[in-house]
Amino acid sequence: MAMTYFKRFRMEIDLIGWRDPAPEMPPGYAAHRWDESLVEAHAEVKFQSFRYEIDANVFPCLGDRDGCLRLMNEIARRDGFLDSATWLLEYRRFGEPNGTFCGTIQGIEDAYGLGSIQNIGVTPGHRGRGLGSILLANALRGFRAAGLRKAFLEVTAQNIGAIRLYQRVGFRKVRTVYKAAEVVYA
Ligand SMILES: CC(C)(COP(=O)(O)OP(=O)(O)OC[C@H]1O[C@@H](n2cnc3c(N)ncnc32)[C@H](O)[C@@H]1OP(=O)(O)O)[C@@H](O)C(=O)NCCC(=O)NCCS
Repeated sequence: MAMTYFKRFRMEIDLIGWRDPAPEMPPGYAAHRWDESLVEAHAEVKFQSFRYEIDANVFPCLGDRDGCLRLMNEIARRDGFLDSATWLLEYRRFGEPNGTFCGTIQGIEDAYGLGSIQNIGVTPGHRGRGLGSILLANALRGFRAAGLRKAFLEVTAQNIGAIRLYQRVGFRKVRTVYKAAEVVYA
């Protein structure tokens, strides 16, 4: 076991100036606003989205199914947790009774009155269809509806695709931070 430091960026967006692009949902997908009965679905999507990604090294609980459930329960109980900024995506094939959950985002109002994006994840088979942009737009809309003026998130510097997505939505890098993590070398 060794200690390593991951470079991360804090990125912010001004919600007053943000022009909601109202991205269109691709066919077959639906967005569900937060409801307590969805906690396990959020946790499972989180796990499926992060298990093989860089952030599972930065935050080991993201690479563990039980860890994701604990984290999701903890987020939902935090002061400032916002139902309006927490969304789950589902895909249902036409004519089929059951769908598959495939995207999650959670939002919190922090102690300074800023919107804080917790984790955003889209499961691997559903990426590249604009679902990440839709989740972000839903969360930002939820922050704005709650009267917040600014939102932020943190992203690992190696996560180039996610950073490009955030920049496209309008987030700007404002600070570099370092996160210590224990890494197991095989
Ligand atoms: C970051 C993430 C949420 C983006 O979700 P998404 O639904 O693919 O997002 P979008 O489709 O709106 O945009 C993704 C970009 O990747 C491109 N892309 C195309 N095919 C892709 C694929 N199979 N996988 C990933 N990205 C793909 C998209 O065209 C788009 O364009 P860009 O490269 O110009 O930015 C998703 O990749 C993910 O869950 N990653 C793992 C978890 C993670 O790192 N989350 C962020 C933590 S800060």
